[in-house]
Amino acid sequence: MSDTLKREAAAKALEDVRPGMRLGLGTGSTAWHFVDLLGARVREGLEVICVPTSEATDRQARDLSIPISDLDTLGALDLTVDGADELDSALNLIKGGGGALLREKIVAAASASMIVIADSSKVVETLGRFPLPIEVNRFGLGATRHALDGVLKKHGAEGEIRLRGADGREPFLTDGGHLILDAFFGRISQPEALSRELLDIPGVVQHGLFLGMCSKAYVAAPDGVRTLLK
Ligand code: A5P
Repeated sequence: MSDTLKREAAAKALEDVRPGMRLGLGTGSTAWHFVDLLGARVREGLEVICVPTSEATDRQARDLSIPISDLDTLGALDLTVDGADELDSALNLIKGGGGALLREKIVAAASASMIVIADSSKVVETLGRFPLPIEVNRFGLGATRHALDGVLKKHGAEGEIRLRGADGREPFLTDGGHLILDAFFGRISQPEALSRELLDIPGVVQHGLFLGMCSKAYVAAPDGVRTLLK
């Protein structure tokens, strides 16, 4: 989907930003537009303090002279604006296509509210068409994979370690130095149970199901931006 739609959704979210807010800044190509637009408002004098959800967003925000802090200093945030790989009508999400899911979830959980910005191609009836990213610790990978295979099989999925590089041979590493296993479901019929079972595996650091965390979404389509509320 076009950058124009992503920017329209981002511009709508900017209307929810008030002076003095402590903001979580998401990661990805849609969140990029929000940070870009926020940078312009900061240049005009808007005072906010922000916590980025990735090294990439941190660099972008610093380049735009957006004031940056961290959760150690701020403790809690007023609002996080982030993209999503999928969202359903209850505003449950799959995130982590860009690999930033751990920081994204920590920042969203520390925020009083979370707004998702997306184009309409991201809205699905049932989550799972997009592969679910599962962040795993490198230590003990064999044991973690064995346990994960059991859970994934039970839920009708298979997983593969995400690779990167020109030859696609190097493992993709997150900002935290962990691996990502992408799990292919097609549809996730029991997201809450799946979430619990994944987090019960000691080597699983986090997964990309964001359940009950998002309160509002701005979804851009060629005929305008729709607001979805939980
Ligand atoms: C980053 O890890 C992701 O959670 C992104 O927020 C998500 O993948 C959406 O990215 P795009 O806006 O680039 O589609």
